[in-house]
Amino acid sequence: MADIAVLGHGVVGSGVLEVLLSHRESIAKRAKEELNVKYILDIREFPDLPYCDRFTKDFDRILNDDSVKIVVEVMGGLEPAFPYVKACLEHGKSVVTSNKELVAAKGAELLAIAQRNNLNFLFEASVGGGIPIIRPISQCLAANEVSEIAGILNGTTNFILTKMIREHMGFEEALELAQQLGYAERDPAADVEGDDACRKICILASLAFGTHVYPRDVHTEGITHVTLGDVGYAEAWGGVIKLIGEVKTLEYGKIQIEVCPMFVSRESQLSSVDDVFNGIMVRGDATGDVVFYGKGAGKLPTASAVVADVIDCVKHFKARKYLFWEDAKPGYVEPYENMV
Ligand code: HSE
Repeated sequence: MADIAVLGHGVVGSGVLEVLLSHRESIAKRAKEELNVKYILDIREFPDLPYCDRFTKDFDRILNDDSVKIVVEVMGGLEPAFPYVKACLEHGKSVVTSNKELVAAKGAELLAIAQRNNLNFLFEASVGGGIPIIRPISQCLAANEVSEIAGILNGTTNFILTKMIREHMGFEEALELAQQLGYAERDPAADVEGDDACRKICILASLAFGTHVYPRDVHTEGITHVTLGDVGYAEAWGGVIKLIGEVKTLEYGKIQIEVCPMFVSRESQLSSVDDVFNGIMVRGDATGDVVFYGKGAGKLPTASAVVADVIDCVKHFKARKYLFWEDAKPGYVEPYENMV
């Protein structure tokens, strides 16, 4: 029996517990061991839930329980997620997270600690919700030199833009709907200002190019200035407006990376990625273009990726060495000002 702890019982955390409970037997078969959620860390209380007896407000209880070898961090944000995850890795616990802010800001540091301690630090759910993208880039496409990644990486903004395009719905109304459906971040500014997509393209770029790419180095614009008029104008020109995160290699060893609303021609596959779906194109020198598509946000798609990582952790308790990248070299990203 593998004891695990879940930090956070929000949209994703409750989804993780739902998937673990509803797929209990098949997961045990695949992990070759039964998974037992021993603790759920949250400051709130949920007395009506079947697993209400597992809740604790005391992180140290989890940290000091040596039977817990895998911790799932689904709190989001950096505080207290970063010190908690770091402490877990330093105390011999593998960590699975869906927290893109954490991975984008602290991925290199946490991967180095995990590697030093021969532990897993897995984050498939941090990009693309239920779409497999972290493993494909770091493992399945490892024989390629990647020259470009371009994607619709934020479900909330894609949902809003789709409502504006198809139903001429106003921005505020569409955002409210996305929040009700559980797609948006706690603070939806991270979605609509492009920060969430920025974190995700940083993670993909770091994996593809082996060097940490930090959000602070990325020119980022969200969709708050996109109007129904812009959307109609794009349509008249045979395309749509999408919030795109894009990274390209430049000839002299640097990369160009940005997030902004772009005109996408109807001929591009990304133009038909609608609603909460994400679409990610990876250009490899051997493969050519490979496109990943699926639900990029929401409770169960994200939980699916988290639980798959947990199964992986149980099966391979030793570190997965391919999930490692170096800290950033100075000057790796070409400043945006030089590109325009
Ligand atoms: N708020 C995010 C999105 C959730 O809308 O894509 C998934 O990362």
